[in-house]
Amino acid sequence: MPRDAPARPDVSLKLRAALTDDLPAIYDLIEQCFPEAPRELFVAQTEVDSTFRLRHARVAVLDGRIVGYVRIFARRMRVRGVPLPAGGIGSVATAPDAQHRGIASMLMRDAIEQMRREGVAVSFLFTGIPGFYERLGYRIVREPFFTADAAEAAALAAQSLYDVRPATDADLPRLVRLYRDATAGTTGSACRTRRQCRDAQQWLGEEPGGAFVAELHGRIVAYARTRCRTYGHEIMELEHRAGHAGAVSPLVAAASSLALAHGEPLVALAPDDSQLAVMLATLPSTRSTTDVRYPMMMRVISLEAMLRPLLPYLSTRAAGHPGPPFRARLHTIDESAVIAVRPRSVALHTNNAAADLDLDANATLDALLGQRLPSRSARPRLSPELRRRLDALFPPTPLHFCNSDRI
Ligand SMILES: CC(C)(COP(=O)(O)OP(=O)(O)OC[C@H]1O[C@@H](n2cnc3c(N)ncnc32)[C@H](O)[C@@H]1OP(=O)(O)O)[C@@H](O)C(=O)NCCC(=O)NCCS
Repeated sequence: MPRDAPARPDVSLKLRAALTDDLPAIYDLIEQCFPEAPRELFVAQTEVDSTFRLRHARVAVLDGRIVGYVRIFARRMRVRGVPLPAGGIGSVATAPDAQHRGIASMLMRDAIEQMRREGVAVSFLFTGIPGFYERLGYRIVREPFFTADAAEAAALAAQSLYDVRPATDADLPRLVRLYRDATAGTTGSACRTRRQCRDAQQWLGEEPGGAFVAELHGRIVAYARTRCRTYGHEIMELEHRAGHAGAVSPLVAAASSLALAHGEPLVALAPDDSQLAVMLATLPSTRSTTDVRYPMMMRVISLEAMLRPLLPYLSTRAAGHPGPPFRARLHTIDESAVIAVRPRSVALHTNNAAADLDLDANATLDALLGQRLPSRSARPRLSPELRRRLDALFPPTPLHFCNSDRI
């Protein structure tokens, strides 16, 4: 439809959960809207992913035809170590002849409502069009992205204590345990079951030989998953056991040798204080930026679902930092909640309780995710004492690095 043509009043537009019979039409729609991605990927995302549920496949039907689609990926994400129900958003698509009528926006609001009904705390996505999602309350979560010269990185392996070899299917249970132990206590990491890892390997079509393990005396102490991208050979994930940061260099070297073979740079998302970031930063060729092509975006779906499970954590923080009581109101685009901090406990009010401090959607996400607190909009209203108390409650902590393939 031409941009300036008057929009038809879409009286017959219906939003609903998909039915099994809708799947072929959904695949056709996605194929049309994402010509660069193979259809099999989307088929596998529904038919191989054991977390797929029809109620998470939201469709827009106009005159009996499916013209829009949004998929919710049911996951669990840790926030300050606490696993919370999370909803990934993907495959957002509107048929070309039905675009610019608000269909994707309506479907996204419908998906947000569905997530809220199911008690989802937080939603995340990865996108090349952040402006579209910002209007729906999502915020970019900045993460450092590194690019390094593969030849330089490949030289890191010298004199390592660790033996590096390609990962095999038989390693999976040990890798799932290692991942779980390494991500305990973090913010932003997804909780994974063995089944989910296996599903993901299948539907992501991960190349054999792209994953490596590092062993010491026959015990796996670290691993890396890597993948060929259009912009370089990427380390999608690298985890190591406590005390084995030394295993990171030979794993990076193994990934770099694949990058070298394809004449590509080595690329990785990594939090600033991770061993991977620290090590890449020692290479003269390394460049880092937070301006990434498909940034991660997040949105709080339910403050109640987010804050209630975090109360024990917050109470511990409050106990560690005694001081005068205070109340902070956190608000997102469509709801607010007040946390009342007393010297030894923290209470949550979802009614309009009075508060000493208002944190807007940005500052709320900053606080909960542990990024720099408070955001610019909240800063002028903070007295030094409130700021100290708030920082004590929500200390800055790096986000555990995330990309679509890790979820
Ligand atoms: C993105 C997409 C789902 C939007 O569907 P839609 O039903 O037209 O969306 P809405 O009418 O609710 O909103 C349209 C607004 O989204 C924004 N938008 C849509 N596509 C965009 C793009 N490629 N880049 C930047 N902004 C975009 C614009 O602000 C647009 O406003 P306009 O209609 O005034 O131009 C649709 O264009 C599509 O299927 N694209 C191909 C697949 C895709 O890129 N999906 C998103 C992956 S994260």
